[in-house]
Amino acid sequence: MNEKSAMSDAPLPPAKPTLPDAQTVTAVKHWTDRLFSFRVTRPKSLRFRSGEFVMIGLLGETGKPLLRAYSIASPAWDDELEFYSIKVPDGPLTSRLQHIKVGDEIILRPKPVGTLVHDALLPGKRLWFLATGTGLAPFASLMREPETYEKYDSIIMMHTCRESAELEYGRQLVESLAEDPLIGDLVAGKLHYYPTTTREPSPRMGRITDNLTSGKVFADLGLPQIDPEDDRAMVCGSLAFNHDVKAVLESFGLHEGANSEPQEYVVEKAFVGDGI
Ligand code: FAD
Ligand code: A2P
Repeated sequence: MNEKSAMSDAPLPPAKPTLPDAQTVTAVKHWTDRLFSFRVTRPKSLRFRSGEFVMIGLLGETGKPLLRAYSIASPAWDDELEFYSIKVPDGPLTSRLQHIKVGDEIILRPKPVGTLVHDALLPGKRLWFLATGTGLAPFASLMREPETYEKYDSIIMMHTCRESAELEYGRQLVESLAEDPLIGDLVAGKLHYYPTTTREPSPRMGRITDNLTSGKVFADLGLPQIDPEDDRAMVCGSLAFNHDVKAVLESFGLHEGANSEPQEYVVEKAFVGDGI
């Protein structure tokens, strides 16, 4: 038997072990030393509503999946899934997740849930997206969702971070919408982008709560003050931010809704851990 036929008779090498619910990383971009975004293949069976979140992760050291909640930052029509992530230096998941490369696998449990969905709001004229930090992620999905522009006359994206560099993912995403063949025309004239910083000088500054209560954002954008008749809001940030924004929205007369009972605003945690 020559060497060639010996090779062809040899048993196949063991298949590369795959993770349960594995998806392959197709792109990774680092925005700052604390923030990155990445895209993965989409399970054929996964259906979700723009704004929902899923559990994703990696295999832990014990061989058990180490999973965390992540908002899907891409819209429901996209062939792939996008995520926008923090890098917590000693975080069990993100200390490792931040090193993923194209071709690597992550675990994705295909059970989307969440309250930041159109169905949880009563019809209105203007929709406010209020986010700090990675709380932008669900709105990165909803800003690319045609239904958003079909349902509302105006969409206002307020995003606040400490420094300008932390706004860059959102800024580039908003900029790209005008060129998007699916929603470019829908977005024109409807989307108001209002990014602010709080700890670094920039063209627009201040906390979202302050810019709402002082009326500055309404004056800057030429919009009336939020009222329960016409305005709807979706909120995503730290527990403290969510708590304080809720108080502001309630002071304007809005009520919190849920999937089971649509109202004038809905809230989701961007993460847990800052205690309140
Ligand atoms: P963890 O042990 O989970 O967190 C350690 C500490 O880091 C926390 O106590 C908190 O103080 C801080 N922290 C965690 N996440 C963040 C964050 N996003 N921003 C600022 N500080 C944080 N994270 C994302 O990066 N992108 C998302 O789209 C996202 N969506 C989420 C949706 C929901 C509904 C929830 C509940 C959480 C979401 N998170 C998101 C947070 C995410 O689940 C993890 O907490 C995060 O990935 C860090 O995981 P870790 O294991 O490294 O650290
Ligand atoms: P500030 O710099 O004034 O604290 P963090 O990085 O701490 O998660 O904060 C992200 C952004 O959210 C920062 O610009 C921060 O402003 C702002 N922020 C934090 N807590 C609140 C809150 N309770 N209300 C409004 N904005 C907040």
